[in-house]
Amino acid sequence: MLKPMLKKTINPLHFIAPAATSREQATVIAREKGCEPPRLLQRRGYQVAWVAPFNTPIKSFDIKQAKKIWESQEALYLPGYITAEQVNFQEEVRHSHALYRQIINGKACDELLDAPYYSGRLLPVYDMLATTEDEADPQEIVTLEFDVLQEGDVIAENLWIKLSWLSFIEEDPSFRLRFSFGIAGYENVAEDFQRQRHAGNLTETVFPESVLISQNKPLAALLQSLLDIDQVAYVERIIYFNAPKGGAQFHQDVEPGHFGVVYAQLSGETVWISLAKNNLVKEIILFFKDEKKLDLLADEIKPEFIQFLSHLVKNPDALSAYLDERENDPLEVFINQSPSFTQQLLAQGYAYQLSAGDLILLPQKSITNCNWHSVYCTSDKEGEALSFAIRSTP
Ligand SMILES: [Fe+2]
Repeated sequence: MLKPMLKKTINPLHFIAPAATSREQATVIAREKGCEPPRLLQRRGYQVAWVAPFNTPIKSFDIKQAKKIWESQEALYLPGYITAEQVNFQEEVRHSHALYRQIINGKACDELLDAPYYSGRLLPVYDMLATTEDEADPQEIVTLEFDVLQEGDVIAENLWIKLSWLSFIEEDPSFRLRFSFGIAGYENVAEDFQRQRHAGNLTETVFPESVLISQNKPLAALLQSLLDIDQVAYVERIIYFNAPKGGAQFHQDVEPGHFGVVYAQLSGETVWISLAKNNLVKEIILFFKDEKKLDLLADEIKPEFIQFLSHLVKNPDALSAYLDERENDPLEVFINQSPSFTQQLLAQGYAYQLSAGDLILLPQKSITNCNWHSVYCTSDKEGEALSFAIRSTP
């Protein structure tokens, strides 16, 4: 059974006003446009726009349409997909928020997981061996290492939970807990499905609300027909706590052996700007052809960045490749911080609002053909979210 989604052709979020507008004024404008109250898109010290959801009809989609959207590397937006099931996990989500609060107040994560609520589920299967801190990774808070035991025997080694801040900004207490194994960044994790499975089970043990994705039968059926696979598996799991003024800058999540990512909002609210990489490149090029927009950009980013990008946009392949460069400040600042560019993406219908119970599926075919996305926290408190990579069971 395919549950309803908003069709891509409907623009679910409207641009309301420039970020400098007061909340009162933005509220009046939103009301005049027939929208819900406005949300400010702000992150890590910059603000880009007031936006507001517009009540649009929810239409059904068929698998043919879904496949077309997925193949084109655009997001599949599934509002309300787990709203009904989520009611049964309120207690678990409350516990997870309590864990978040204690961690940002400086409590040690390993001690928190020793408390009966967690240790009662972890033991005797998950044996916490050690905690480490990677000095070379300033975003890392701590890594907890586990072995998996079965009747006292070790059946999987060196699983870990890596707890990291999402930014270096003092006023952004967003963090994530990543569940994986081995040496981060060096191994092709997809080659070891058994350990991926154990790491997935560890996520479920610490955050039982994970089953909202992993045991969701309609979602499995949807993904299996979407991807033409027999059995879907959810691996390389991440639990996010996006806090106000936090979120994620534009990025992709391409991993060998994985088809893409499913993200579920369990509490709070986020706004996503999500589009296929080729469309992102196209939008950047279109922007730089518009003299009026370039006039506005002069007040938004450094002149040397504008000069650099004006040359780069003449070569779409070079522009596409530059998106993946580690050091690409002119482009990174432009796509994330330019209010005029954000407004253009909003006008094209690339923004989605995710409230508790909403899902978004992000195809990640290859570096050159994948979905790019950027996330803003728009609730007044942190929100919990699940982000799991999608693969087939070997
Ligand atoms: Fe992502």
